[in-house]
Amino acid sequence: MINGKNIILGVCGGIAAFKAAALTSKLVQAGANVKVIMTKSSKEFVTPLTFQALSRQPVYDDTFVEPDPSKIAHIDIADWADVVLVAPTTANIMAKLATGIADDMLTTTLLATTAPVYLAPAMNVNMYDKASVQRNVRTLRQDGYQIIDGVEGYLACGWTGKGRMAEPDDLLALLEHHFTNKEGRLKDKTVVITAGPTQERIDPVRYFTNHSSGKMGYAVAEAAREEGANVILISGPTHISPPTGVKIVDVVSAKEMFDAAMRYYHEADIVIKSAAVADYRPKETFDQKRKKQPGAWSIEMERTTDILKTMGEQKEAQILVGFAAESEQVEDYARKKLHSKNLDLIVANNITQAGAGFKGDTNIITIITKDDTKKEYPVLAKKEAATCIISDIVSYMERHHRL
Ligand code: PMT
Repeated sequence: MINGKNIILGVCGGIAAFKAAALTSKLVQAGANVKVIMTKSSKEFVTPLTFQALSRQPVYDDTFVEPDPSKIAHIDIADWADVVLVAPTTANIMAKLATGIADDMLTTTLLATTAPVYLAPAMNVNMYDKASVQRNVRTLRQDGYQIIDGVEGYLACGWTGKGRMAEPDDLLALLEHHFTNKEGRLKDKTVVITAGPTQERIDPVRYFTNHSSGKMGYAVAEAAREEGANVILISGPTHISPPTGVKIVDVVSAKEMFDAAMRYYHEADIVIKSAAVADYRPKETFDQKRKKQPGAWSIEMERTTDILKTMGEQKEAQILVGFAAESEQVEDYARKKLHSKNLDLIVANNITQAGAGFKGDTNIITIITKDDTKKEYPVLAKKEAATCIISDIVSYMERHHRL
C-alpha cells in the first residue's frame, strides 16, 4: 500500500538519526517516494549525503535555498506529501510545533502541510518525562499530531527507560497501516468515542471519580481506526497512551465531556460511549482547600447531564452505541438503557464478574441491538472485545443499509 506514496521524513538532531537512514532505505525498497528534511543539528549525527543516496532525492535542510524560482520549496514539498513522519523527533521540535514556531525548513514545512503528521520522539527518559515535554505532547495530540510513543529500553545516554525511538520496521509497518486503513469497512466514516472516567471537583485537592482506566474505550478507538474510520477519542483522565492515528480530546469533568461530545456530535456517523461518566457531582465546590473540621461532612450532590440520553433525543442519522456497566439484572437494565436513550446498540458488561469491567485487560460483553439481536461473548482481551464491537456495529449498519 505504501508503493507510490509521497512521504516526507523529517530528521531531528538525536542519536536515533542513524535509524532514520535505515528507515529511508526500507521505505524506498517498499516503493515509496521519500523526501528527507534535516534540521541543522541532525547533520551533526548523519550527513545529508547519506539520505540523498538512500532516497535518491535532494535533501532539504535550508528554507532559503530556492533552486526553482517558480516554486516556494517548503510549500511545494508540504503540498506534495501524502504523509509526514518526523523520526527522531526531539523535545526542541515538539516545543516549536506546540507553539507554532517555524524557523527552519522542517518546522515551516510542518506548519504548511495538510497531510497527517506522525512524530516519533526519542530522548533521555528524564527529558521525556519532564512536565514541559509532556505538556507539549498533550498539546500536539490535541492539535491532531500522531505521537508514536517511545519504547522502553537501553538509551544511548546510559539510562534505561522509555525514550527509545520505535524501530524502523515498526515505523514502516505503521505507515503501511496508515495507507491500508483507508480501505477499511469504516472508510470515510467519523467515529466519536468517549473513554475513561470523569473527575468531579470538590476543592483543589479532592474530587469524585470511578475505576475506569480508559482501556476499553481506547481499544475501541484502535479497532475503529483499523477499519479506516476517522476517530475522535474524547477521554477523561487516564494513565495510558492513546492509540496512534486518532484525534484525542482531553477532558476532566462530565460537563467538559458533554461539551466536547456535543461539539463533535453533528459530524459523527457513529458515537460509541464507553466512558464511565459521573452521574452526580458536588453541588458546591470550593476555590480553596476545605480545612478539616470536627464532626462529619455531608456533601450535597446534583445530577450531571446524561450525554448519551441528550444525543438520543437529538439524533439525526448517527448510529448511537452505549455501554451498560451493571452489577445485577445486566440484560434487563441494558435493554432499558437501549430504549430509553434511543440507542442502536448497547454493550453490557457485568462489572462484578471476574475478568470483566473496570481496569483489567479483559472484558465479558453482551451486545444487544435495537433490531433485537443478542450476542454473548466469552472473556476476551479488551482489544479483541473492541474488534467484536466494531464488527457488530458494521453488521448492524449493513443490515440497515447505512454502509
Ligand atoms: O475503562 P476500563 O477500565 O477499561 O473499564 C471499562 C468500562 C467498565 C468503563 C466500560 O466497559 C463500561 O461499561 N463503560 C460504561 C460505564 C457507565 O458509565 O455505564 P452506565 O451504565 O452508568 O452508563 C450507561 C451509558 O450512558 C454509558 O454509555 C455512559 O457512557 C453513558 N452516560 C452515563 C452517564 C452520563 N452522565 N452520561 C452518559 O453519556
